Amino acid sequence: MCGIVGYIGFREATPLLLEGLRRLEYRGYDSAGLAVSGRRGKPRIAKVAGRVADLRDAVDPARTGGTGIAHTRWATHGEATDANAHPHTDPGGRIAVVHNGIFENAESLRAQLTAEGAVFASETDTEVLTHLIAAALEAGASSLEDAVRTALRPVEGAYGIAVLDGQRPDELVVARQGSPLVLGVGEKEMFIASDVAALVRHTQRAVFLDDGELATVNAEGYRTSTLDARPTDKQPVTVGVVEEDYQLGEFPDFMRKEIAEQPDAVTRALRGRLDERFATVRLDGTGLDARDLRSIRRVKFLGCGSAYYAGELGANLVEELARIPADAEPASEFRYRNPVVESDTLYIAVSQSGETLDTLAAVEELNRKGGRVIGAVNGVGSAIARACGAGLLLHAGPEISVASTKAVTNMSVSFAMLALLLGRVRDLSTANGQRIVTALRSLPGQIEEILRAEEQIAEAARRYADARNMFFIGRTRCWPTAREGAQKLKEISYVHAEAYHAAELKHGPLALIDESMPSVVLAPDDELFAKNISAMEQIKARGGPIIAVTNTTLPHGLTDTVIRVPHNSPELDPILLSVPLQLFAYHFASTLDRDIDKPRNLAKSVTVE
Ligand code: G6P
Repeated sequence: MCGIVGYIGFREATPLLLEGLRRLEYRGYDSAGLAVSGRRGKPRIAKVAGRVADLRDAVDPARTGGTGIAHTRWATHGEATDANAHPHTDPGGRIAVVHNGIFENAESLRAQLTAEGAVFASETDTEVLTHLIAAALEAGASSLEDAVRTALRPVEGAYGIAVLDGQRPDELVVARQGSPLVLGVGEKEMFIASDVAALVRHTQRAVFLDDGELATVNAEGYRTSTLDARPTDKQPVTVGVVEEDYQLGEFPDFMRKEIAEQPDAVTRALRGRLDERFATVRLDGTGLDARDLRSIRRVKFLGCGSAYYAGELGANLVEELARIPADAEPASEFRYRNPVVESDTLYIAVSQSGETLDTLAAVEELNRKGGRVIGAVNGVGSAIARACGAGLLLHAGPEISVASTKAVTNMSVSFAMLALLLGRVRDLSTANGQRIVTALRSLPGQIEEILRAEEQIAEAARRYADARNMFFIGRTRCWPTAREGAQKLKEISYVHAEAYHAAELKHGPLALIDESMPSVVLAPDDELFAKNISAMEQIKARGGPIIAVTNTTLPHGLTDTVIRVPHNSPELDPILLSVPLQLFAYHFASTLDRDIDKPRNLAKSVTVE
C-alpha cells in the first residue's frame, strides 16, 4: 500500500524513479509524485492525481538531478488530488518527504503547529512531518538524520518515510516503523524502495530495515541505526528474485500470468515436502516436532480478504484430516475482541505479502499473550514472517496483480499439507495419508488441464458478463471456494457477487432469483452431490441461470453451462474448483474492459487499518 522509491548516485534520478514507481504501482495507484534535487537548495517537485503514466507526462524531460524520492499513493488522509499527492514539502520548500502509513496523532500535531503559526498546503498527515523536520533544522540539528530523528519523536503511528533536503542533496534519510523499506546497494549508487520489485533490475544486494530503524544513504553506501541513535550495522543480503519475475512476458496482465503460473507455483510448494514412505509431509519451517504437533488441541487461521478465505479452507482440511477443531477468523477483528488465547492452540497468520497491518497486529496480540503462532506467508523476510519466527513459506513467487490467485492456491495447498501432517501424528491411516499424498502430487498436472480449457470458461464468462448480481453457491468443503470465487468477481469486475451455502438459499436469497441473476454452483462428486442437485433444481424452477462447476456428470438439462474439472480427492477438490472461478472472474472483467491488475479503490497490501 503506497510505494516509495529513492535514488542517489551518478545517474539521473528521474527516469530511475519513474521506472521504480511503475514497478510498485500495484501497491497504490491513485496519485504519484517525485522530488529531485534542484538548484537554489530546493527540491523540484512534480505530482499528479492519477497513475504513474500521468506523472511521466507531467515531468519536465529536462529535469536533472542525481538524488530523488518518489511515491505512488493509495489515499488514506485526504482525497486523491494533486495537492494531497506526495512528496510533501515544508513551507520553505526545502524538505521533501514521501510517506507510507498513517501518523495517528497528525491532527493534534497539526493543531499545535497551526497555533504556532504554521500554514498547511494539504490535508495529509505527512505534511506535519515536513514542518517538524524543517523546525528541527532551524533549531540547529547537526544533520538531516538528527533532524528526522527529532521530528519523529512526537509522531505516533505507522510509517516508512524517505526525506530529501534540498540544501544537502548528497544524502537521503529513511526510517521505518510498520511499513516496509529496503535499501538496494549498487556501485557508487544506492536505491530505496518499499519492495524489492523496484530494485532487482539494478542490484541483487538489499538491506531490509527493521521497525524502529533509520538509515542515512549516500552514493557510496549507508549507515543504519535505531530511531534513538544506536548503530545497527545492517549487512546486505542477496535477494532471491530476479527481474524476469516482474515481467509480463507474453501475458496481457499479471493476473493472467499468475493464474498460468499455478502449476509451477504448486510444484514449488510441494517440492521436498512430500514423504511417500510415511505417507505424510515434512514441514521443517514450522519448527514443530511430532510431540508439539500432538499437543495441539485447536487450530485457528487468521488472515484478511482472500487469505481469510484460504484459512477457512485450511480449517476444513484440518478438521477433516486431523479431527482437530479448527476455524478461521478475519485478522482485522481478532485483537479488538480481547480474544481468549489458549496455549494448546496453533495460530496460523496467513498473508501473501506478509505486510497486512491487521494480520501483523493479530500476531503481535498473540505474541503478547503467549500464543503459539506460525506464519503462512509468501513475502520472504516480511514483517509477519519475522514476527512469527517460524512458519510455512508459500513459495508462490512474486505476486503483482491486486487480485490474488497463485498465492491463494499455494495457501490452500500448504494447509492441505499441514492438515495431513497433523492427521498422520494422530489417527489418519497410512492408506488415507497415501491417498492425500498422491492427490497433492496430482494437483499441478490437473491445474494445467483446467488451464487448457480456458476458452470454454472464457466463453461462459462472456455469456453472463451483462449480469449485475451473481450468486456463488457451495457448501461445507466448497464454501470457502464459493466465497473466494465471489470475491474475485467483485474485486476485478465491480459486479456484485455473493456467496451462499446451497441449503441456505431457500431461507431468503431465493427471493432474488430470476432470469437476470445467474448462480455459479460448485457441485463436486462428493456425499453432498444430491443436495447440490436439489439446490440447482430450486434455482432452475425460478428461472435462474446456472453455471455448474463440477467433476462429474450432471442430470441432462439442469444447468445452462457446465465447467468441468478433473477428479482429485473429495478433500482437495475445492482447490481445483477454485481455478476455473479465477478464470471466470478474469474473463468476465476483461469483457467489461476493467483494469484487471489495478482494480479501483483497492491496493495489493494494506498496511493501514
Ligand atoms: C488486500 C488485497 C487482497 C488480499 C488482502 C490480504 O485487501 O487487495 O487481495 O487478499 O489484502 O493480503 P495479504 O497480503 O495479507 O494476503
